[in-house]
Amino acid sequence: MDKFIITGGIQLKGETYASGAKNSVLALLPACILNSSKSIISNVSKVSDVYTMLKLLEHLGCSFNFQNNIVEIDTSSINNQFAPYELVKKMRASIYVLGPLVARFGYAKVSLPGGCAWGPRPVNLHLEAMTKLGAEIEIEEGYIIAKAKKLIGTKINFDISSVGATGNALMAAVLAKGTTIITNAALEPEIQQLAEFLNLMGAKIDGIGTTTLTIEGVDALNSAEISVIPDRIESATLLTAAAITRGKISLKNVIPNHLNACLTKFEDAGLKLTIEKNKIILDAENIDEIKPVNVTTAPYPGFPTDMQAQWISLMCLANGTSTVTDSIYFDRFKHVPELNRLGANIEVKENSAIVKGPTKLKGAKVMSTDLRASASLVLAGLAASGKTEVLRVYHLDRGYESIEKKLESLGAKIERVDSPEY
Ligand code: UD1
Repeated sequence: MDKFIITGGIQLKGETYASGAKNSVLALLPACILNSSKSIISNVSKVSDVYTMLKLLEHLGCSFNFQNNIVEIDTSSINNQFAPYELVKKMRASIYVLGPLVARFGYAKVSLPGGCAWGPRPVNLHLEAMTKLGAEIEIEEGYIIAKAKKLIGTKINFDISSVGATGNALMAAVLAKGTTIITNAALEPEIQQLAEFLNLMGAKIDGIGTTTLTIEGVDALNSAEISVIPDRIESATLLTAAAITRGKISLKNVIPNHLNACLTKFEDAGLKLTIEKNKIILDAENIDEIKPVNVTTAPYPGFPTDMQAQWISLMCLANGTSTVTDSIYFDRFKHVPELNRLGANIEVKENSAIVKGPTKLKGAKVMSTDLRASASLVLAGLAASGKTEVLRVYHLDRGYESIEKKLESLGAKIERVDSPEY
């Protein structure tokens, strides 16, 4: 099992780029189930979640070719509507095959994803949406069994803004008979891109970029081609790496608008930003201090829960106390005890972390518990004096493409080593 050994305290400098958004391609790939031909998706990150999704699609009978960050996927040979526990338990986003399978084949048997490192994460909204569209849903031995002769357009209002449930409802509704109106739809750029991709396939979705999506069902969809948008969470993580090491980096291939909530907080913290069309420069070289800045996570365009852990790491170096509240996942603070092992002074009260800065972080062994938690530990390791060992980096590999290579290119001392430690 790989671990990272980081020698901290080096200012990061130089230029790097954002890879394709993991959360976008994890929706675009299953969307291809809806047609019966060959689609092409480019700017696909080589991260393990993408390989897990491809494995699941292969299990359903799809064939694919993944080279040079381009996936060519052929969904004409799907002969199986069964998503087994062994694959689904690895990644919650596997639930995305539910909507397209029922819509195209009238049947799906998909394992319930179960809990995850930070709490229960239910799928009730996905199931309610499928039921509203006319699917019969049964839960048997840990599996969702969904059946429908033909899905029927309907009105769906989500009580909570949900990325996954909006995506699933959208993918099901495009082949339903008649009109579906989804209200309180998620606004995340990855959902917007999914809707655009479906329209490229021939779907009729109106209201993209708003919380009300109107879908006129069509009989069939065609193949399509799309390039994945840049990963806004990876982008914000790399910018935080520059901030936490008091460095200066230029990040290419970004869509600055997608990062507005984070960019505002960087500015509030006193970091200097230069924003160009597809580029962001963050300069922390000559600032007097990092200011403490409170954040509360919220659905897009709010501050993303997927940046909560990394923000806590940055706030450890801020000149004062800050409060970081997660209003999406109440229990997503497994990184806090690990950060405290590096010398941080953080206390968790309910769904808030109270971070007392500034602290002098000192290298130690720490353990990754989930994707974004491990990113926060790498960031803290970059700022800590001495050596930090981050164990279980397979969590990081789920969503960051060649992160150590990108950090190395900015001057970081970070080494991936195979380790017997678990
Ligand atoms: C997606 C992202 C994940 C991110 C999360 C929140 C992907 C592949 N993953 O996950 O990285 O952290 O959005 O931005 O895009 N909820 C329910 N019932 C449901 C579904 C969700 O109560 O059926 C709740 C969740 O517990 C959570 C909130 O709704 O409190 C938002 O979750 P949701 O947007 O659905 O997250 P995911 O799509 O799973």
